[in-house]
Amino acid sequence: MKHLLSLLDTTPQEISELLNLADQLKYENKHGIAHKRLNGQTLGMIFQKSSTRTRVSFETGMYQLGGQALFLSNRDLQIGRGEPIEDTARVLSRYLDGIMIRTFAQSEVEALAKYGTIPIINGLTDFCHPCQVLADLMTIREHKGHLDGLKMCYIGDGNNMANSLIVGGLKTGMRVSVACPEGYDPDKQVLDFANAYQGFSLERDPMQAAAGADVIFTDVWASMGQEDEAAERRKVFEGVYQVNKKLLTAANSGCMVQHCLPAHRGEEITADVFEAHADEIFDEAENRLHAQKAVMVTLMEK
Ligand code: CP
Ligand code: NVA
Repeated sequence: MKHLLSLLDTTPQEISELLNLADQLKYENKHGIAHKRLNGQTLGMIFQKSSTRTRVSFETGMYQLGGQALFLSNRDLQIGRGEPIEDTARVLSRYLDGIMIRTFAQSEVEALAKYGTIPIINGLTDFCHPCQVLADLMTIREHKGHLDGLKMCYIGDGNNMANSLIVGGLKTGMRVSVACPEGYDPDKQVLDFANAYQGFSLERDPMQAAAGADVIFTDVWASMGQEDEAAERRKVFEGVYQVNKKLLTAANSGCMVQHCLPAHRGEEITADVFEAHADEIFDEAENRLHAQKAVMVTLMEK
């Protein structure tokens, strides 16, 4: 593995190795066993969108691995004034050992990988959120003991989270059902990939998608960059595309609830369901740290 750009170009074997390494690094972290496997290395973190979890978990993770992380905001970088990504990639490759980028277009992440000479990690684009979904798979496996054969359900917008969950779920042997309103489907490239799997279904009715689920995911109705569409989206999603007590009656008993956060209580998830599953949701948030350390070690260890 040279980069983590999208789970579409990551093999099931690579995902499984990342999850195993993440478990090991979590164990070592919990038992005070130092693992300075990226001693003296520097990760650049380019942010063109806001972040709490991604920024703090990458920065802390890099420190725990013996390296350091640089927070590079769009407001301060010359990218913000129009310097091409191709030039930025070649310059930063001369200083850094790896780059994590959060941005809008997937093509920018691909361009960094094409023109740079160091590992590139996608920390969220409009298309996908692979680091989050590695943490999600790690969390499900921790709680359920395995992934193969489980049913994952996603309710809501066919956004970056939906795209990565579909690919990550199917590649790890899960069945995946998604309920989105018409016009808000996952990306076509992802649907083309998913339709080759018998265990995939795209529904309009959330109750149907949730039937027999072992884990239910949701995410915000309007993602970063879609603020102008928020009111219109609310009208489409409200009252239907929500994880609530009624929806959970369709799922298997012991069904987990996951949310990448930030959550909007009363919109895509009710406050009572969120609080009833808070331990699982905050395990998921914690696992960003361990899963991303596994990604950095895999890509950057010399
Ligand atoms: N889930 C996630 O990526 O959170 P942040 O936007 O806070 O990084
Ligand atoms: N779909 C959300 C995920 C945030 C982590 C967004 O892109 O804003």
